[in-house]
Amino acid sequence: MNILILGNGGREHTFCWKLSQSAQKPNLFIAPGNAGTAQLGTNIDINPTDLEAVATAVSSHAIDLILVGPEAPLVAGVHDHIANHPTLSHVPVIGPKEEAAQLEGSKAYAKAFMERHNIPTAPYKQFDAQSLNDGLAYLETIPAPYVLKADGLAAGKGVLIIHELEEAKTALIDMLANKKFGAASEQVVIEGFLDGIELSCFVLTDGESHVTFPFAKDYKRIGEGDTGLNTGGMGAVSPVPFNDAFFKQKIQDRIITPTMQGLKKDQLDFVGFVFIGLIRVGDDPFVIEYNVRMGDPETQVVLPRIQNDMAALLLATGEKRLHEVTLQISDQAAATVVGVAGGYPEAYEKGKAISGLTGDGLIFQAGAAQVDNQIVTNGGRVLAATGFGADVQEALTAAYSNLSNISFEGMYFRKDLGFDL
Ligand code: AMP
Ligand code: GLY
Repeated sequence: MNILILGNGGREHTFCWKLSQSAQKPNLFIAPGNAGTAQLGTNIDINPTDLEAVATAVSSHAIDLILVGPEAPLVAGVHDHIANHPTLSHVPVIGPKEEAAQLEGSKAYAKAFMERHNIPTAPYKQFDAQSLNDGLAYLETIPAPYVLKADGLAAGKGVLIIHELEEAKTALIDMLANKKFGAASEQVVIEGFLDGIELSCFVLTDGESHVTFPFAKDYKRIGEGDTGLNTGGMGAVSPVPFNDAFFKQKIQDRIITPTMQGLKKDQLDFVGFVFIGLIRVGDDPFVIEYNVRMGDPETQVVLPRIQNDMAALLLATGEKRLHEVTLQISDQAAATVVGVAGGYPEAYEKGKAISGLTGDGLIFQAGAAQVDNQIVTNGGRVLAATGFGADVQEALTAAYSNLSNISFEGMYFRKDLGFDL
């Protein structure tokens, strides 16, 4: 079985690691991949949003299944491209088609979906350049802080939370009139601020049935105590200690079930991962956002806790046989700590030699490339060290101990993960 994985992050390395343990011993191809994925399969040097190049790779490597890691190829329509292809339409793609990928690609689309299907989320209104004055007037009617979201994909930077009214108005003008985030901010969603603690839910669906993966919590800010700039994610833990059985049931009844029913009612034929960003406000769950893929670095703690054969699980999804599958989840907790390049998420250097990769700890590489015989840094988030334990605190201790073997010039990581649990 030949599997093509699109992407080049720690998430994709983790999928390769898990798939390489499958009984079917699949051949893995990763486009474009990184130094970690190259150890488990064949990297293909193409851009995953170049749909024609993806189709060519699928043909030339006789690919049986495609797993899409990041959102960009999905929003660009990679699933539709393969499904409509004259000779490749039989190849299952794990990841939704372009229309359903709008759940991540457009905040306004996602909010309308939630409103239509009565899924709890913050109240909102959307504005464009024509209705800028209405937007400014709306800001005057709602309490601070103000949550402004660029509608489109903005590399995780499109959400602004602003405490002062005048500053919020200026930001709205910047986004709508001055196109601060380019086409992504041609529309802006203004929504109510939700005060609570966040957690992430991952549902794998074949369009009919679904399985719920272990919950996780990630740490997005660069600084300790959740301060400073947003990043792609500095670490994660699974399970989430405050997500007890009672709260999980609320998430199932109020959010997962109506989301799955909504996808069907809207005839979106969603095949892939629905990543639901949740916030617990008091005792109630609300949706902050949908993503249409697994999280990174949440994957680095979620997949190691799943005991099923991953190739069989993905194939069952692609063949719409997910109802046959029962998920087996380990009782062990997992934690991952991301080592980043000094300066990230702002400017940083690349090409620093990474040492300590040959130990037995589970290290998932992300911004790492092989140059001659040396693995060097090649991105902001360089790698993630995962550890396990009887509970999250023990898992964190194991993850930190694992990361302590690794070094590269300028390496930074957060030392306080789990501080809020
Ligand atoms: P998003 O890209 O929609 O996930 O937003 C990025 C981050 O902004 C989230 O992870 C939250 O921490 C924060 N955020 C987004 N929407 C809200 C909201 N309505 N209330 C409070 N915080 C929010
Ligand atoms: N860790 C958050 C994300 O993958 O979007």
